[in-house]
Amino acid sequence: MATDGGEKGSSGHAAAEWRFARAAAAKEEGALAVAGDKMSIRAARFKISASVDARDPRPVLPLAHGDPSVFPAFRTAAEAEDAVAAALRTGKFNCYPAGVGLPDARRALAEHLSSDLPYKLSTDDIFLTAGGTQAIEVVVSVLAQPGTNILLPRPGYPNYEARAGLHNLEVRRFDLIPERGWEIDIDSLESIADKNTTAMVIINPNNPCGSVYTHEHLAKVAEVARKLGILVIADEVYGNLVFGDTPFVPMGVFGHIAPVLSIGSLSKRWIVPGWRLGWVAVCDPNKILLNTKVINH
Ligand SMILES: Cc1ncc(COP(=O)(O)O)c(C=O)c1O
Repeated sequence: MATDGGEKGSSGHAAAEWRFARAAAAKEEGALAVAGDKMSIRAARFKISASVDARDPRPVLPLAHGDPSVFPAFRTAAEAEDAVAAALRTGKFNCYPAGVGLPDARRALAEHLSSDLPYKLSTDDIFLTAGGTQAIEVVVSVLAQPGTNILLPRPGYPNYEARAGLHNLEVRRFDLIPERGWEIDIDSLESIADKNTTAMVIINPNNPCGSVYTHEHLAKVAEVARKLGILVIADEVYGNLVFGDTPFVPMGVFGHIAPVLSIGSLSKRWIVPGWRLGWVAVCDPNKILLNTKVINH
């Protein structure tokens, strides 16, 4: 193929100046893609892993494993696998389901979650999602009105901030206090919130700290949310996965004080992240979210 000495692609045309190409630094670092001078925890972890000498005989324990299914000891119940396989073989579930999920699955989840609540959830209170990740996307995008802000825990789970960034939703942070078992700095909430604050996120049991909030602490969270007029997004993806003495209490128990959107998932407790099934449960017995048109049925 003739060349004119310029930079040519295999088709013979001069290579385009691709507008979507990343800045050189990020391109070279691949998985370590950075935004400005920020580096994510994941990127730092990749960097550390990449620096480990493969010939070193000492085992490296992965303390940041998000996928329990990679360990053979963690296998979901055979009954669950059988039920999914049997449902698949009926051929009845190959259709496009309703965007909010299949009614039977929503009803079953409403019943399951209600057993830990002082009131009953209905099928309409459950929205099925593609894992907890899509539940976060849905909730954050619903809340992202121009000029509003949400309160996130520090340290926290980065997906909330990432999703808020995509929607230009301002994020304000409150601290988790290590000396108090990573409890929320409740006293700070009133000083960081303003009239444009619409919600706060709590993660319980907590990622990344592993803490579990007491009934008393969650009641205080609900009281301050009510005072501020905000809703509580309770990320309960690790619900019931508790190793200490503090039992898991769903935030929905306090849904009569302030409205709660509980985010859950099959990924962790049922050890099937690849099934990509999560949910948003509206725990709001006073129907405040319905009356304020944040949700509609
Ligand atoms: C706190 C928290 N929320 C949500 C998610 C996302 O859940 P899923 O894996 O079901 O998408 C995770 C996953 O690690 C998580 O740690």
